Amino acid sequence: MHKGDHSRVVLAMVGLPARGKSYIARKVARYLSWLGHKTRVFNVGSYRRAHVGSHQPNEFFNPDNEAGRNALRDLAMMALEDMFAWFDDGGDVGIYDATNSTGSRRRMVEERCREKGIPLVFIESICNDPAVIDANVRETKLSMPDYAGVDAVEAVSDFRARIAHYERVYEPLDDHDGSYIKIIDVGQKVVLNRMQGYLPGRLVPLLINLHIAPRPIWLTRHGESAFNVLAIIGGDADLSPHGEEYARQLATFVRGRERDLPVRETMTVWTSTLRRTIQTALPLSAKPVAFRALDEIDAGVCDGMTYEQIREQMPDVYAARKADKFRYRYPRGESYEDVIQRLDPMIIQLERQRAPVLLIGHQAVLRALYAYLMDRPPSECPRLEIPLHTVIELTPTAYGCKEERFVLPPGLDTDHDKERPSNRL
Ligand code: F6P
Repeated sequence: MHKGDHSRVVLAMVGLPARGKSYIARKVARYLSWLGHKTRVFNVGSYRRAHVGSHQPNEFFNPDNEAGRNALRDLAMMALEDMFAWFDDGGDVGIYDATNSTGSRRRMVEERCREKGIPLVFIESICNDPAVIDANVRETKLSMPDYAGVDAVEAVSDFRARIAHYERVYEPLDDHDGSYIKIIDVGQKVVLNRMQGYLPGRLVPLLINLHIAPRPIWLTRHGESAFNVLAIIGGDADLSPHGEEYARQLATFVRGRERDLPVRETMTVWTSTLRRTIQTALPLSAKPVAFRALDEIDAGVCDGMTYEQIREQMPDVYAARKADKFRYRYPRGESYEDVIQRLDPMIIQLERQRAPVLLIGHQAVLRALYAYLMDRPPSECPRLEIPLHTVIELTPTAYGCKEERFVLPPGLDTDHDKERPSNRL
């Protein structure tokens, strides 16, 4: 986020159970947090589990059951008020993750947002594909505490009955609902109504590209470069002989992993425009897709220097970066904060890919991408471990990514520049 941009907004989810609301809520939270907005999800289901216990039979959700209806309304209000208290403490984006499936419930949310002076945008997920709903129930609902120790067949049938209770009173968003984004069948169709403000508009590219097809993302730095050997930052050096060996190992490794995938899709290879990443891709692809946005952090006036030289010749720069490595912008260069902003379109590209992606990048850029994919606070980025000659395999799952790391050649820590104390800025 750029300084001074503290736009506040409530994003309220709408939709029947098992339509991916929490998936979308978490994805949006991860994305906006990464972009620097203080974001939090308030999930009413968690309030229900904490306050009335997780083992509620489907009858609890029957709209004709007055006690259940009142309890659910009180819990929804509790989460809503907690969200406003959090806004008072400096929150930027509150994501209200509930079904909000009736017009009257939405009027209530609207009313409170108006009183608090916080703009409201509804995000509705409509899904008509029984296979997607079924997969969602099996992947995310059966593992909920609600069904701990319950037989799977029984749990699925109870959850279906719960959905049916909501279906009887469900009123999809219509034009009376003000500002909204309606996502139909996992992004097949998206409707925008009365969109206002900068932030909600920024979500649209993410939301239209969401999908749940499983595929691995391989992240790796380029092979060791001639500048890595000398501990020089930046520049556009060629690979060292070690680096060339890594490029060959990487090709063999990735081809092997690709062969083992359950679904065969041709992998795409992405690099920066710098020679060391393109040379690393060479044994796999003579023409990788090279993105300028993937170029290494611009060290400005320090480009081509070692950390030791910076400490000796520009002690102020050295000290200032050490004091706040995330925000510090090299003179005529970039900060990590800047790198995140320029990587935003790459995240959208990554999200939309259905085929496996091998992304050959650089230390700072990969730290920023990894922070998004693994939902780490952006401020932690500058210290994340992204060693040379290591492939990080990330496989998106329902609510995050599974991670595995492979050092190539196996058993050999070839990260030369990690060893040097001078690299610890
Ligand atoms: O040392 C390799 C390198 O990719 C440099 O080009 C870049 O300036 C640096 O890593 C980024 O890491 P840090 O933010 O820790 O200085």
